[in-house]
Amino acid sequence: MRKLFFAAAAAALALAPVVAEAQSPIIIKFSHVVANDTPKGKGALKFKELAEKYTDGKVKVEVYPNSSLYKDKEEIEALQLGSVQMLAPSTAKFAPLGVKEFEALDLPWLFKDDDSYAAAMKGPLGKYLFDKLQAKGIKGLAYWDNGFHMVSANKPLIKPADFQGLKFRISGSKIADQYFRNVGSIPQIMAFSEVYQALQTGVVDGCENTPSNYLTQKFYEVQKDITVSNHAHLQYAVIVNSKFWDGLPADIRGQLEKAMSEATDYTNSIARKENEDALAEIKKSGKTTLHSLTDADRKAWQEAMRPTYTWAKGRVGQEVLDLVAKELD
Ligand code: LMR
Repeated sequence: MRKLFFAAAAAALALAPVVAEAQSPIIIKFSHVVANDTPKGKGALKFKELAEKYTDGKVKVEVYPNSSLYKDKEEIEALQLGSVQMLAPSTAKFAPLGVKEFEALDLPWLFKDDDSYAAAMKGPLGKYLFDKLQAKGIKGLAYWDNGFHMVSANKPLIKPADFQGLKFRISGSKIADQYFRNVGSIPQIMAFSEVYQALQTGVVDGCENTPSNYLTQKFYEVQKDITVSNHAHLQYAVIVNSKFWDGLPADIRGQLEKAMSEATDYTNSIARKENEDALAEIKKSGKTTLHSLTDADRKAWQEAMRPTYTWAKGRVGQEVLDLVAKELD
């Protein structure tokens, strides 16, 4: 009887890890800074839905939107420390890691439209940039789209001279810093979660962002004039902690890759429409005035911001600029 008891206990013990594994799912904390109701917010929720479905509940994805877990800079540190497993920062935010090459994507008037952006990232350029993250313990999984920046202040911004002396919030890229300086303004890096208040209290005079971010963060309520300039592109790199990712069982990693690939197609397919709808809603609100540029205005901005291209060589290096040029040929 005693023998039987010990045999049963041993069998139960042997089974314990399997049972525990079945009971406690692998948790992926996915932190980001925008609202759920944006291309990135919806993409993160789509990934959650698909990841949980394809892994049959073995993975649970916890999405933390709106900087509710970490702000811009902190979230990248948290990823490296393993406190979160997945992020989707804008590619303008990698400089604190010592990776500057992504900033090439912030060059003004670089991409003609979303399609040329998407095509560019699918090739060697996208891979080259992700390779730069490897040494930092970070793995790049996908590029997500969020369309083109508008720019705003409490006065119309139509001619380059209209920027003179104004303070603009930028998200992190030194390329953006340069093109705002090219038109005589004073750029200032600030976390996304602090922008609304900074605009409201006049800590900064203006900012740049996409319609979906203007709408969901209510920036349009504290900016009298917005120029739909489309002067630069906003894109995200979906990244994971490499150690976490490489340590996943191969079958689960495969299921998550499938979920990510489908969530990426979904996000990139809705980005343009989401931004068009957001712009229409901002217009309808009557709380701000939307301006557009004539061809001549646009040329004047392009001319004024051109020095950023020469300056960029010293910042991001010729190699990535050559890759960008090749993609846009
Ligand atoms: C910003 O900080 O302006 C953007 O990067 C926010 C975002 O993630 O869209």
